Amino acid sequence: MSASKNIKPAKITKICCIGAGYVGGPTMSVIAKMCPEITVTIVDINKEKIAQWNGDDLDNLPIFENGLKEIITERRGKNLFFSTDIDQAIKDAQMIFISVNTPTKTYGQGKGMAADLKYIELCARQIATVATSDKIVVEKSTIPVRTAQTIKQILDNTSSDFKFQILSNPEFLSEGTAIKDLMNPDRVLIGGEQSKAGEEAIEALAAIYSRWISQEKIIRTNVWSSELSKLTANAFLAQRISSINAMSALCEKTGANIEEVSLAIGMDSRIGSKFLQASVGFGGSCFQKDILNLVYISQTLGLPEVAHYWENVLIINDYQKTRFAQNIISTLFNTVSSKKITFLGWAFKKETNDTRESAAIYVAWELLQDQADIHVYDPKVTVDQISRDLKLVSKGLFNGNEGQGTITIHKEPYSATYDAHAIAILTEWDEFKTYNWQKIYDQMKKPAFLFDGRNILDRKQLDTIGFQTYQIGK
Ligand code: NAD
Ligand code: UDX
Repeated sequence: MSASKNIKPAKITKICCIGAGYVGGPTMSVIAKMCPEITVTIVDINKEKIAQWNGDDLDNLPIFENGLKEIITERRGKNLFFSTDIDQAIKDAQMIFISVNTPTKTYGQGKGMAADLKYIELCARQIATVATSDKIVVEKSTIPVRTAQTIKQILDNTSSDFKFQILSNPEFLSEGTAIKDLMNPDRVLIGGEQSKAGEEAIEALAAIYSRWISQEKIIRTNVWSSELSKLTANAFLAQRISSINAMSALCEKTGANIEEVSLAIGMDSRIGSKFLQASVGFGGSCFQKDILNLVYISQTLGLPEVAHYWENVLIINDYQKTRFAQNIISTLFNTVSSKKITFLGWAFKKETNDTRESAAIYVAWELLQDQADIHVYDPKVTVDQISRDLKLVSKGLFNGNEGQGTITIHKEPYSATYDAHAIAILTEWDEFKTYNWQKIYDQMKKPAFLFDGRNILDRKQLDTIGFQTYQIGK
């Protein structure tokens, strides 16, 4: 679908975004920065989060992203607002983005697989109830293909005569580089109804992005292609990591080196070099939930082979995390009971404070069940977050009681590694490469084990110092 020349879209001057999280916050901040004539109001039901977004301390924003606080400083109170008054913001806006969370269902039909759309549905009902004019509703959240139909049904079944157009505009930003990705995206995808009103809505949104993104990068499709493309993109990205991680296990058995293999295959232009970094396993709020969702959709549409194919991407990811934890236990003479194991990194990747589905959580829980004393240092993650993660992964079983391992959080790396039996690198933070590794070695128990789950350290240097080093796929 290409941009129609005869379409005259409405000019958007007021935007509302429901959901002030990792997507809503950065995305709307960038729109506010690039379109100073548009008033952008981000709303959320979480009062504390909105208070943090409005707070004076810009180092205490609810999320950490490089470049974000500078934009907040520049635009907040001018054309960028954070509020809990959802009804008012909906009434005022011509365009409403839905950026609420769509986690995996934890109950009832589709439990553990399907996307939980209750927050999306609530938003649609609220828009239907309070709208006092026509609206363009934009799905920014990642949702199963055909969700726009659900939103439309809710909106069209109100007693009012107002018209609603639903667009799908999935977000491809990656945490840690969100502002960079939003300022210079590979593409922007807009799916809309194939009618005059649908095309007008698409062009109204395209006009906003055109302020800083070139026309060739703005793709227009039908709604269902757009919805499915987001799940497909994440499935393909996750599949690459599981593929390279599966090969890393094979490398360890054969003497091949995964980095050499990655280099060799990545130079094939049909494959490409990105997303071939072997690791302790992928984490983050998106890959697992979106692939589970794809598996569920395939199952419910009677496509078990398709479901099975994608499920295996997740099985390899779980295998990689377990393999890493079990290697630590077996290398430390088959037990880590009462041994000090230091985790460097807890976030699911560098440059973010997000820990959702982080491999560190699963590795920690396996070691705690073997009664390890885990000491953690992460540059951005809070103590409270780590405790919440462990409660969740252990289904409430981890409470620091006798017979379980222990967890201690540190504010700097040298106390975290003092007297440790082993160190495990779980996140690829750049600062880990700059540490005084001789000093760390000197203060550790011997043999000093080091498990580099991100292959970021210089193996030769570590071996020279005296570490017993393990890296993925080598
Ligand atoms: P998040 O949990 O950080 O933020 C969602 C926010 O929505 C929360 O603050 C929550 O309080 C709020 N919310 C929920 N229901 C609400 C309601 N009825 N009214 C007002 N506020 C409500 O989630 P996120 O990481 O920003 O993800 C949002 C969506 O974007 C998800 O569908 C996700 O899959 C998708 N996505 C995420 C990323 C990412 O990197 N995090 C990237 C692309 C797409
Ligand atoms: C992902 C998608 O990349 C993004 O397009 C989508 O919009 C949201 O989900 P995100 O989860 O923020 O983004 O981070 P990403 O950079 O994709 O990393 C996901 C996980 O894969 C991280 O744990 C990362 O460390 C891991 N990873 C990534 C690898 O293990 N190896 C790689 O080569 C790349």
